[in-house]
Amino acid sequence: MTVHKGLAGVVADTTAVSKVDPETNSLLYRGYPVQELATRCSSEQVARLLWDGELPSAAELERFRAREREGRRLDERVRRTIDDLPLTAHPMDVVRTAVSVLGALDPAAGDASPEAELAKAERLFAALPAVVAHAQRRRLGGQAPPPRDDLDHAANFLWMVTGAEPDAVAVRTFETSLVLYAEHSFNASTFAARVVTSTLSDLHSAVTAAVGALKGPLHGGANEAVWEAFEEIGLGEGSPGRARAWLAAALAGHRKVMGFGHRVYRHGDSRVPTMHAALRELATDRGRPDVLELYDALEAEMTRAKQILPNLDYPAGPAYHLLGLDTDLFTPVFVAARVVGWTAHVVEQRGANSLIRPLSEYDGPPLRHLPA
Ligand code: ACO
Repeated sequence: MTVHKGLAGVVADTTAVSKVDPETNSLLYRGYPVQELATRCSSEQVARLLWDGELPSAAELERFRAREREGRRLDERVRRTIDDLPLTAHPMDVVRTAVSVLGALDPAAGDASPEAELAKAERLFAALPAVVAHAQRRRLGGQAPPPRDDLDHAANFLWMVTGAEPDAVAVRTFETSLVLYAEHSFNASTFAARVVTSTLSDLHSAVTAAVGALKGPLHGGANEAVWEAFEEIGLGEGSPGRARAWLAAALAGHRKVMGFGHRVYRHGDSRVPTMHAALRELATDRGRPDVLELYDALEAEMTRAKQILPNLDYPAGPAYHLLGLDTDLFTPVFVAARVVGWTAHVVEQRGANSLIRPLSEYDGPPLRHLPA
């Protein structure tokens, strides 16, 4: 029996949602290169593409945007549940709890038809920014500002979380990140969602499991860890030298350097150039060359020392910091973006289901018996 540790190299199923090709270093959502989508489409358009298989017409997009606006207000019962959690709870725990509560309250709980599942996915897409915003604002001792109907999804998301009206550069950067984070085939959290769905469980249970999987620093939690490393190294004058010393110590201590490496890509993450360009534009606009200097220095050191290249979390972490987000909100924002991919996979899994149940090779004690 061959053991595929970590399921590395195992093709577990087919999918029409996205294609990751490490050889050509490309990522396609329903056939479209992600770079084109991230620079030319809104997060709402990309959500519809991933869910429906095609980009929406202007009329379909308008109708979806109207429904998204309706779903932005947080249900009072979800708000109360969040308020019962300790203020010290990590916002990822808040989000995971909120998704679970939203499942219990969902008007179509128990209906697993594709139409009902897509409606639930839409409701989560609309509600998650309010959940993240409430998780943030309550620890500042207040309420999240009410959603703004004059702002589309990405701009309203930033507005509700930061309480400040975002400028055009901020919205563009954030939108780019939401599109790039939306989907990535059978990554750990999506696979977790598919495993749960394969038991014929419900969509909210699948998404709750996916949030838990994303939280780990080997997956989505890495975007927070990237900025923590930047702060540990220290921005400003002398940061390249400090980056070299910091990295040497980290590698000597067998620490993983967050934001680098990928299970699938071996020649670089296809999403990094687009997010790096967005970060450059934002940092330049905000007069923060120090962030770019440290970014380049740590990347150069990591390439020199280990030949390991950045993944999407590497440019996304500093970009989120410059957008005014607290560090522990970076992964919750990733949730609000990736919920689109997760739910597209839930629908796909349900449409051609087979229980996901791998084998294991036993390596425990040999047969033995209780004393007579
Ligand atoms: N820092 C230091 N060493 C690394 C890193 C890293 N970031 N990534 C890989 N390596 C080393 C490993 O130590 C290992 O070395 P060894 O063979 O000498 O033991 C070798 O490269 C292979 O690494 P694995 O961890 O076995 O490779 P795997 O494919 O399992 O890991 C992973 C992929 C988990 C992403 C890994 O690169 C990692 O831990 N990166 C840091 C966490 C991170 O950034 N996660 C985000 C993923 S992308 C996303 O979620 C958007």
